[in-house]
Amino acid sequence: MEDKQLEAFEIDCLLGAILLRYGYDFRNYAQASLKRRIHNRLTLSNLQHVSEMIPRILYDEHFFSEFLCDMSITVTEMFRNPEVFKFIREKVVDKLRTYSRINIWNVGCATGEEAYSIAIILAEEGLLNKTHIYATDYDNQALAVAKTGIYPANVMQQYTENYLKAGGRQSFSDYYQARYESAKMKKNLREKITFANHNLMQDGSFAEMHLILCRNVLIYFNQTLQNSVLSLLRDSMVHHGYLVLGDKETLDFSSVANDFESVDKQRRIYRKKRLR
Ligand SMILES: C[S@@+](CC[C@H](N)C(=O)[O-])C[C@H]1O[C@@H](n2cnc3c(N)ncnc32)[C@H](O)[C@@H]1O
Repeated sequence: MEDKQLEAFEIDCLLGAILLRYGYDFRNYAQASLKRRIHNRLTLSNLQHVSEMIPRILYDEHFFSEFLCDMSITVTEMFRNPEVFKFIREKVVDKLRTYSRINIWNVGCATGEEAYSIAIILAEEGLLNKTHIYATDYDNQALAVAKTGIYPANVMQQYTENYLKAGGRQSFSDYYQARYESAKMKKNLREKITFANHNLMQDGSFAEMHLILCRNVLIYFNQTLQNSVLSLLRDSMVHHGYLVLGDKETLDFSSVANDFESVDKQRRIYRKKRLR
């Protein structure tokens, strides 16, 4: 048996152990990044073979939580790809305005910057009062940061630039209280967002959404998991609800491609068709 085959078998066993012990099913994560992260953990733990991780995973919860952190890439920023937020402001918000209550789901919210960004857009458009934003992730450490709404002061300059490119109408500093080394998002934004644990590998839908942002999450999944997550998102939306994906993600070739129309191809914005 070749080394590669042997390692593939060891990885299967490791993922089986994780599923059995903790209920997380990583078998449908994209292979290349999964392998990279497993190798990274091997090196950090001074282990030689993937199979040596199995007893650690089974009997050492701390080791598993480190593995979970490795699996969760939480890189994000306020108004990431500002042109997307500008488009939402200019072309989507007027459609949202027609609803008496607006539900927004920020899927894979990481440390919360995306959820605060959309809250700011809605506040400036006079819609925040009738909106609720559900922001979910399976990484509790990231969610804990998101709930505080506290970010390092040294990223605020970059966020201010993004905010202006997204068509920001005020001064970005109106939305946070500056402290010594940090900035805390204001209470009127925080209280409109519910940050909660939700695992896309296994959890279901919980409300009918008018807008779903699921950006830079699907890239970590294989096509099977992408299809199951996209079906979940479709079934969690009203007819004509909007779906926003990341700039490297698409509905093309997915199992839900025919259930959506493209609103803006470049910005990866879709609208759910009226389905029978
Ligand atoms: C790169 S971040 C994207 C953050 C934000 N959406 C953005 O575009 O800036 C990817 C997030 O997806 C989350 N994620 C990965 N797998 C997940 C799963 N199975 N269930 C829920 N969240 C998941 C990670 O924890 C991470 O916070």
